[in-house]
Amino acid sequence: MNFGLILWYAILIIILVLLILYFYIRFKASVIFFVDKDKFFPLPGFIIKLVCAFLFLPFLFFTYKWIFYFGMFVIFQMLFDLVVMTFFANSKKRWFHILYHIFAVPLILTAVFFILGYVNTQNITRKEYEVLSEKEVLAVSDASRTFTTYEEGSSKLVMIADLHYPTTLNEEKLKEVVDRINKEDADIIVLCGDMTDEDTSKEKMLECIRVLGELDAKLGVFFVWGNHDDNRYNSAPTYEKAEVYEAYKNNGIYVLEDEAVLFGNGILLVGRKDYSDESGRKSMEELLKDASVKTGRSLEELYENVIVVADHEPKEYAQDKAAGCDIVISGHTHDGQIWPLGLFSTLFKMNDLTYGMKQDEGLTQIVTSGLGTWGFPVRTAGRCEYVVINIGE
Ligand SMILES: [Fe+2]
Repeated sequence: MNFGLILWYAILIIILVLLILYFYIRFKASVIFFVDKDKFFPLPGFIIKLVCAFLFLPFLFFTYKWIFYFGMFVIFQMLFDLVVMTFFANSKKRWFHILYHIFAVPLILTAVFFILGYVNTQNITRKEYEVLSEKEVLAVSDASRTFTTYEEGSSKLVMIADLHYPTTLNEEKLKEVVDRINKEDADIIVLCGDMTDEDTSKEKMLECIRVLGELDAKLGVFFVWGNHDDNRYNSAPTYEKAEVYEAYKNNGIYVLEDEAVLFGNGILLVGRKDYSDESGRKSMEELLKDASVKTGRSLEELYENVIVVADHEPKEYAQDKAAGCDIVISGHTHDGQIWPLGLFSTLFKMNDLTYGMKQDEGLTQIVTSGLGTWGFPVRTAGRCEYVVINIGE
């Protein structure tokens, strides 16, 4: 059984446990509430509750992602029940009983939670990291088709991941982000996977990659596959992985699939295949050997460069460390996206790092929360961002 499947089963079990707990608490709260029966007849409350419950059913037909909305509602309902049981168990106020039975408070809280979550997806932030290196790295002062010149200073790498177009951004908004990133005047831009997904139509996939093709970096724009880009989760796919590959190629974006590129400024960029790719992927050790053959440099010479690994999922970091890599950049986690999923990810160590930067001996690990969101334009954990990494002394 693959790891992703186990993860989904774990989330389902957690939701089930929460539901059982919820109904238990709810039952206890109702018993306390209905002690004083002659003052408040419970039947109207039950009917209203039933109607409200049916109001949730459309989510089932619109999208299977309803579980997240419903999950948040259940969490708010549970918390509210605890407050009611603790402070208002003997309340005789009719309006309060009505509010309680129509789920007013948790419904409002859920709505506010998701509205703020939507607003959050529309404010894209810039996250900057400084990575010091003892190895010599140069800034790119000028680059054209025929020559590239370098100067003292740090090299600027911009990473974006997990756009999941067009969940949060349309063409116009994506263009704005592209313009913003182009103003960074980066040396290298890495698209670290999950730019599109199973909800992206063929037309939107092409549109996304066309707009991303306007990204401009002195040494080039590179793409590594995420677990969603090849459209594998789509039960009725309208395009194939090969078409995505072609689209990147046609828009001047180089697809790094278990391949490395050596730049003249002292950076070796290694783009790994996705961790969950069923065709398997090469080990870091093999990739460096390949890079040595491709560039005609010995391994010792390659190690004089700062080795940056672009790997969509923050996994197998131990392998990168053992192979002597310097920096690994990833996305995939969305920093949880919907609170409290990120906490589970951290708690159960589903990924080597959930968000941010971590130094692990010689290896600097950077994980982004992503430019967009998966499934629905809501983010209640973390921010939507692009990442700027300055590498140098
Ligand atoms: Fe992913």
